[in-house]
Amino acid sequence: MLQVDFTNIDVARIGPDRGVEWERELEAAAPKLAAARDSLWQRAGDPAAMLGWVSLPEATDILRTIQRFATQRSDVTDVLVLGIGGSALGARALDAALGGAGARLHFIDNVEPEPVAALLDRLDPRTTLVNVISKSGTTAETMAAFLLALGWLRRSLGEDWRRRTVVTTDPSAGLLRPFAARHGLTAFEIPPDVGGRFSVFSPVGLVPLALAGVEVEALLAGARKANAAAADEIAANTPAQTALAQYLAWREGRHISVLMPYSSRLSLLPAWFVQLHAESLGKARDRAGSRVHVGPTPLPAVGASDQHSQVQLFREGPHDKVVVFVRHRESDRDLVLPAEDELEELGYLFGKSLFRLLSAEAAATAHALAEARRPSYTIWLERLDAYNLGWLLQHLMWQTAFLGELFNVNAFDQPGVELGKRYTYALLGRPGYEDLAAELRRAGVEV
Ligand code: PA5
Repeated sequence: MLQVDFTNIDVARIGPDRGVEWERELEAAAPKLAAARDSLWQRAGDPAAMLGWVSLPEATDILRTIQRFATQRSDVTDVLVLGIGGSALGARALDAALGGAGARLHFIDNVEPEPVAALLDRLDPRTTLVNVISKSGTTAETMAAFLLALGWLRRSLGEDWRRRTVVTTDPSAGLLRPFAARHGLTAFEIPPDVGGRFSVFSPVGLVPLALAGVEVEALLAGARKANAAAADEIAANTPAQTALAQYLAWREGRHISVLMPYSSRLSLLPAWFVQLHAESLGKARDRAGSRVHVGPTPLPAVGASDQHSQVQLFREGPHDKVVVFVRHRESDRDLVLPAEDELEELGYLFGKSLFRLLSAEAAATAHALAEARRPSYTIWLERLDAYNLGWLLQHLMWQTAFLGELFNVNAFDQPGVELGKRYTYALLGRPGYEDLAAELRRAGVEV
């Protein structure tokens, strides 16, 4: 279950009557948020709207296929995931939080030779499955990793490389789909109306996570709860409410949005969130084409570790941040701190549980920020399991979509990213990019 506590969002007050201003703002914004909700749900059936991620949690037929596939491949000890951005970050965050029961996941999402070579040296091609993931089926970093992985498999396995290669890509666009068909490879589809950073509950995330032994069915059940909340009246619509909190913070000049889970298992979640918010909301133009240059800057943090690093800045630095804590109510395991006669001064810890200490750290930080008039709110999860994390990720995708409506920008394109990709192709001499290559030469850009 996901709940949000907005107690510390209202920086005008601390103390028992805080939250009054927030209640007023929420009431005033309710008609606008309701219009945003209705517009998003109306557009959800239109393939051009890129809202296909909304219905992914309902796609139980695809889920069954993936589960069957994972069961058939129980001989796999390691999965080498080749993908970048939205094609890697979600699975990586959820594997870090929930993996461990199945195959080990490894990600190549950069083109730095040393780590790639070290990883290939370490893995055994006879028990490794290569899952190449690219929506466009053309991204240079992923294609480069795929070329290397193919050579690596072929050298060890000969013709058997096909059984060790799985492709996840668009049903028709790009180079991977025809390659998979030609070689009879297992191939999964990324629906055309699902963008990379919204694709974690498509085969992009579900295939590696199922192989890693994550309860993918529970992930989708949680995500469906976020869908229900996003369709609800505004008073109960948690994604609309957190979007409003983010939007109001931005309007007040708090342009940095910190995501700070109190859990090392969630330490990679902020990286997924950074891409989600940055690519969706960092836009030069609104939907009417006017220049706007909007977008909160997402900043990752992890509690309690960052209390001894960034929290000093959050509390006493510029008034330019809103901090979002992610906390869980119950821990699956706990450790009781034993008494130690020779360390009497630590008596305040004796007999307390480690989880209680973590909880105290989070509550203390939230209050330290509130006391310095720094806004924050807390997303509460029942526990850190697949159901709750499915709910959280889909909640954050809905929050992003609502923010797109509030900023009046297209949250589902990424022209800045695409331009960088095209410049890379031009610099490397890809046919069809001669004009861009000439532009780069004129600008003095070279490799
Ligand atoms: O969210 C997005 O669309 C991007 O960040 C992509 O995920 C990223 O660029 C990788 O693209 P592709 O999956 O086409 O290789």
